[in-house]
Amino acid sequence: MQQVLDLIKSRRSIRKFKSDAVPSDLVDKVVEAGLYAATGKNRQPCKIIVITNEDLKAQIRALNAQIMGSKEGFDPFYGAPVYILVVADKSAPTATYDGSLVLGNMMLAAHALGLGSCWIHRAKESMETPLYKDLFKSLGIEGDFEGIGHLALGYVLGDYPECPKRKENSVYYVK
Ligand SMILES: Cc1cc2nc3c(=O)[nH]c(=O)nc-3n(C[C@H](O)[C@H](O)[C@H](O)COP(=O)(O)O)c2cc1C
Repeated sequence: MQQVLDLIKSRRSIRKFKSDAVPSDLVDKVVEAGLYAATGKNRQPCKIIVITNEDLKAQIRALNAQIMGSKEGFDPFYGAPVYILVVADKSAPTATYDGSLVLGNMMLAAHALGLGSCWIHRAKESMETPLYKDLFKSLGIEGDFEGIGHLALGYVLGDYPECPKRKENSVYYVK
């Protein structure tokens, strides 16, 4: 139990990755943790797409940077070797919450396995583009999906980030 609590507290968002590939069995373990997230009424409305194809990764990060309006040359995925996209079926009323928990589980699993990760946003906007629509078509995934988030995954490069201070006055006990 203490181990789990320590993992939760010590996980940080990683923004510098080594270019080393992540062994597929570790990626599978991260994904499996996502599959076991709680979902509203156990609908399990999410799809998890693991992307290591360099050409597709380049297109995804260019699109993400464009949506972000970032400066030329900025990599919103911080050089991560693996991108994991999480989407959720819009017909599920809890789609956004379900997908967020999937990402949360995967971030913790990555940390437990000695990997670094960072939630990379703008999946919602990305899902509306031909790049993502074509990707889903090519995978034979049909339906109307909300982009929840991407996970940048890989080995941590450099120092592990410090923990940001917790805000005060966030918890109230009513006894
Ligand atoms: C919904 C959500 C969206 C986020 N989007 C991004 C993002 O696009 N890029 C990024 O570098 N970090 C992103 N983050 C990571 C947060 O910036 C990070 O969790 C926060 O600064 C706290 O740091 P910690 O994760 O190390 O505790 C996102 C986190 C969440 C939960």
